[in-house]
Amino acid sequence: MQQLRDRVAFITGGANGIGYAMAASFARAGMKLALADKDEGALDRAVGRLADAGAAVIGVKVDVTDRDAMEVAAASVEATFGAVHVLCNNAGIGAATPVALTTPQEWDATIAINVTAIYNGLRAFLPRILRHGEGGHIVNTASMAGLVPTPGMAAYSASKFAVVGLTETLHQELRPQGIGVTLLCPGFVRTGLMDSSRRETGDAPPDPGRDAAQARIDRAIAGGIEAEVVGEMVLAAIREDRLYLPTTAKYRDLIEGRLRALLAALDALPPGQ
Ligand SMILES: NC(=O)c1ccc[n+]([C@@H]2O[C@H](COP(=O)([O-])OP(=O)(O)OC[C@H]3O[C@@H](n4cnc5c(N)ncnc54)[C@H](O)[C@@H]3O)[C@@H](O)[C@H]2O)c1
Repeated sequence: MQQLRDRVAFITGGANGIGYAMAASFARAGMKLALADKDEGALDRAVGRLADAGAAVIGVKVDVTDRDAMEVAAASVEATFGAVHVLCNNAGIGAATPVALTTPQEWDATIAINVTAIYNGLRAFLPRILRHGEGGHIVNTASMAGLVPTPGMAAYSASKFAVVGLTETLHQELRPQGIGVTLLCPGFVRTGLMDSSRRETGDAPPDPGRDAAQARIDRAIAGGIEAEVVGEMVLAAIREDRLYLPTTAKYRDLIEGRLRALLAALDALPPGQ
């Protein structure tokens, strides 16, 4: 989408971190914004900051795992701003736990928020975008952990691989209809991701393996890039209609190694199989 002024964006997880940074970048491009989040306090502060800077913005308190509430949210944003053009399925959590220590609560919350909620967002908004015919763009937030396995983040990596598969498929399905799709795969970004995740996944039994994995991820996030950089990258990807949006080339060797191993396994099959 080249023309973004006065277009409307709905951003889940828009109260904090990467979602808020996208909103701030979109606002500078003259877009109207609906920030969706379940953290009401942060949502009010985010809407206040953007409105003070002159943006047309509303907050929608919604839990993205609530399919009916997402439908209500879509209708209420349309009632305020008219047609929605850009949907950013960005809300997510990031439990840092190895496979053997992953609790059912961590697994279920991670899949519900990181994967199923993207379906909920598409179910609520995609038919409306296709109906209004004014063009549109979908941004799904995956992660580098959706492109390479991430020891210590089992459920997270599984959920983000699922987002990659969903988004690449969506891209092929929507291309003939002129709807753009972007797969955002951030490396580490300095946000409160692990704190909001700990609130969602409950109290897990203490374990040195879990503590070590969490400390490692906490350190990596603290050393990550600023969310504002990612917001600007997403804005450019929408304008340039780009599918893949990695934020770092640091993991290139890991991605290449995984693909080479996969190709070697294919090449090792008997001829004709
Ligand atoms: N920070 C990183 O290093 C990093 C790296 C790769 C991918 N990501 C992804 O980026 C996305 C945004 O994360 P972030 O780093 O900005 O974290 P963040 O915690 O700052 O922001 C996430 C937002 O999602 C909201 N949220 C969580 N569960 C929700 C629910 N059920 N309903 C509605 N809102 C909900 C939170 O309240 C929060 O405002 C996530 O999908 C995350 O997996 C982050």
